Amino acid sequence: MELEKVSNIDNLYWLTTGRREELGTKNKTPGRTFYGERRTWVNGCELRIWNPYRSKIAAAIHRRTPISIRKTDEILYLGAATGTTLSHISDINTEGITYAVEVSPTSASKLLTLCEARENIIPMLEDAEKPRDYQGIVGEVDIIYQDIAQRNQAEIALKNTELFLKEKGELILTIKARSIDVSSNPRDVLRRELERLEERVKISHIKSLKPYHRDHYITIARVKD
Ligand SMILES: C[S@@+](CC[C@H](N)C(=O)[O-])C[C@H]1O[C@@H](n2cnc3c(N)ncnc32)[C@H](O)[C@@H]1O
Repeated sequence: MELEKVSNIDNLYWLTTGRREELGTKNKTPGRTFYGERRTWVNGCELRIWNPYRSKIAAAIHRRTPISIRKTDEILYLGAATGTTLSHISDINTEGITYAVEVSPTSASKLLTLCEARENIIPMLEDAEKPRDYQGIVGEVDIIYQDIAQRNQAEIALKNTELFLKEKGELILTIKARSIDVSSNPRDVLRRELERLEERVKISHIKSLKPYHRDHYITIARVKD
């Protein structure tokens, strides 16, 4: 097996065996897993395998989307669910903080197990549509990652970007076309969402997450100058 660091993302590696490529994050809590993920050990380092079918950011990295995450980054994560992707983000920004917003009490309660083991996550049972409710806790962040299946995904992202994203920070937004409008062509839905976003942020990249997530796209954007 060959090991190669993923450029621009700390603590993340490509593991290559023949033609098979997998991602692995360096386990911040060696010996512990969180959702039944596989692990592998290379040169004494424990890596948790990050499955692109279970995480849209992992899928985006497999699709070679130029995402950057530093170990010191402060991140606002909207739609953390039970923490599958969040656990890998926590492996990456080991010296930063992730504010993890989740509206479902059932999912948020499962998040607590992860947060008890990881001091770099602050879980918040909040509605991402009402960012002023958590303005007292969250400061300016380097990255906003949003993975929320709602009709008004763009609007939620913009509200949070305006309150929390640093001037040179990045918004990483997953767009689930079918959550916005099941009856329209996903490409038309995407175009309309992008037009909405472009009124207020500058989009640098858009990628389809096929074959990992059907009718899903990821976009990277910055605050307009
Ligand atoms: C697709 S799941 C997220 C999966 C997660 N990002 C992962 O990769 O492990 C979407 C989550 O967004 C949450 N959600 C939906 N609307 C929300 C809102 N307004 N505020 C916060 N969370 C919300 C849902 O409860 C659900 O847990």
